[in-house]
Amino acid sequence: MAPLNTIETLASPSVKRILVLSYSQTGQLAEITRSIVEPLQKNGNFSIHIETLRPVTPYPFPWRFFAFLDAFPESAHMVAPPLQPLSLSGDEAFDLVILPYQVWFLAPSQPMTAFLKHPLAKKLLAGKPVVTVIACRNMWLLAQDKMKGLLADCGARLLDNVVLVDPSPTFTTFFTTPAWLLSGRRDFLPGLPAAGVDAASIKAASRFGFALRDALLADQERGTAPLLTGLKAADSDPNLLVSEKAGTRSFYLWGKLLRAVGEPGQWRRRPFLVLYVTFLIALILSIVPVSLLLQALLRPFLRRRLAALKQQFDAPSGSGIERMSVYEQ
Ligand SMILES: Cc1cc2nc3c(=O)[nH]c(=O)nc-3n(C[C@H](O)[C@H](O)[C@H](O)COP(=O)(O)O)c2cc1C
Repeated sequence: MAPLNTIETLASPSVKRILVLSYSQTGQLAEITRSIVEPLQKNGNFSIHIETLRPVTPYPFPWRFFAFLDAFPESAHMVAPPLQPLSLSGDEAFDLVILPYQVWFLAPSQPMTAFLKHPLAKKLLAGKPVVTVIACRNMWLLAQDKMKGLLADCGARLLDNVVLVDPSPTFTTFFTTPAWLLSGRRDFLPGLPAAGVDAASIKAASRFGFALRDALLADQERGTAPLLTGLKAADSDPNLLVSEKAGTRSFYLWGKLLRAVGEPGQWRRRPFLVLYVTFLIALILSIVPVSLLLQALLRPFLRRRLAALKQQFDAPSGSGIERMSVYEQ
């Protein structure tokens, strides 16, 4: 996967500066970012700085089983790993920040959390309009809530949120995503669909870049309204919220125990990780089907509540499609 390239034109008063953050293990999020950023790179009015995040101790890909599990306590507690020095000084003045991130254990991935907790992030983001871009399996609702908190700590203004998920059913991705992350192959499980965001959705993400180009040329990033409405930016599934809340609580409590037992990577965490996985599998096989059945039975009575939650999580950009025909290539 070719790295994302920074294009910086000579500063001129009319040229807008855009900061794009980048971290991706499989290349999926990098590819989505490229699809969004390319329309901006091809336009002479923008100078784009791509900052690639590099944890001091790189996360493995493909993941080893224990390394993968061992990432949950720090992810859930948003304890950031040290990053290699950034190429920015903090004095740069960007007009827009594009912040793509993946979800790790229902929280923003550790490298992106590390950036947002870095002392430079406050300097770079204070008062700046930010567009978040999520690419994950399909559970991102509470991660975005955490992201909002991290952005608020930096004083940033969240204008838009774009979300791309694996289009396969939740139950299928429950197997195909870990198989991909542990094997390095999207099609590792025969007979099941390939894991990850589909190629057509990645290509179609360019519509966000074209819409951002037009919005920036009209100085709309200076206002408070979202720039990416009508483009089906975030189509949330509030039915997943119950599972996300249960998972978040469990990751948090067990994460606390594991963090008390040892540091990431230490052998003494392993027996507890085995215990946790056993607990998790028992939970998934027993409680989850019952809770899904209950939810299905209650759905007719929860329709209004679910509609309100959908609107809340789709915001700010929304799931409307009224501008798709203008920006779809
Ligand atoms: C440690 C780990 C935990 C993950 N947890 C979640 C999760 O809670 N929810 C989700 O939708 N996707 C989850 N994913 C999938 C990622 O969000 C992402 O789609 C995938 O890792 C590919 O990202 P990449 O661009 O870094 O290659 C997880 C991935 C990893 C590596």
